[in-house]
Amino acid sequence: MATWDPAQYLRWSDHRLRPAVDLLQRVPLTSPARVVDLGCGTGNVTALLRARWPEAHVTGVDASRTMLERARASDRGVEWLEADVATWTPPAPVDVLFSNATLHWIDDHAALFPRLVTLVAAGGALAVQMPRNFGEPSHTSIYEVAREARWRARLEKLIRPEPTKPPEFYWDLLASRVSALDVWETVYTQALTGDNSVADFVKGSWLKPFLDALHPDDRESFERAYRARVARAYPPRADGTTLFPFRRLFMVARC
Ligand SMILES: C[S@@+](CC[C@H](N)C(=O)[O-])C[C@H]1O[C@@H](n2cnc3c(N)ncnc32)[C@H](O)[C@@H]1O
Repeated sequence: MATWDPAQYLRWSDHRLRPAVDLLQRVPLTSPARVVDLGCGTGNVTALLRARWPEAHVTGVDASRTMLERARASDRGVEWLEADVATWTPPAPVDVLFSNATLHWIDDHAALFPRLVTLVAAGGALAVQMPRNFGEPSHTSIYEVAREARWRARLEKLIRPEPTKPPEFYWDLLASRVSALDVWETVYTQALTGDNSVADFVKGSWLKPFLDALHPDDRESFERAYRARVARAYPPRADGTTLFPFRRLFMVARC
């Protein structure tokens, strides 16, 4: 499982938080009793859930101790749990099962998503957002460098098939299991500033397991090769801004 650097992840927190806000607006429940944030990370999104439903019992679940340490310090009113989302089961069905930018880290969605809807109470909702940008240069450049002769033996095993499937996949999988289903995609035109900001953005998430797998002496060289490719793929505009189109898939399933 990937390790996480909260500071690097939060460097672009405004762009990372926006899809969570968009998803939350589409959850129709007014007073859920039990709310769970699956893959809560540093607790940024959990704070939004707390603000929306202050009376609810809110639980944040994450596998990363480093992320959870930060989350715990942010809010003592949340139940923070260290657990693997792929296998964690709540003690009782929950009213809102919310997951932002996490489930693409887990394989076998054909098994995962039907299991998740069974954890939701009747009348409750499963709400999920996942990146679906894995075919774009921001991500394919990682794989291209990883497949070079110098790195292949150490890194090729980390290359996964695209984890987030097309919208139709989730529709076919879930529509017959829930009472209502809404699946949609948005491509955010993220306007970034700074030198090679796309590479910096990806360093906080998809690039990290590749860097972690290398000896510290080799990381800089791998990252340099990645950054050169990304800089060519996302040149800055005339005003210095770099536009980073980023596709994300959303769903709200009413159970
Ligand atoms: C990109 S962060 C998103 C954090 C938070 N949801 C947000 O939107 O800011 C992904 C989080 O998922 C967690 N994660 C990944 N795979 C996991 C798993 N199998 N079980 C639990 N947490 C997992 C990571 O530890 C990390 O904190």
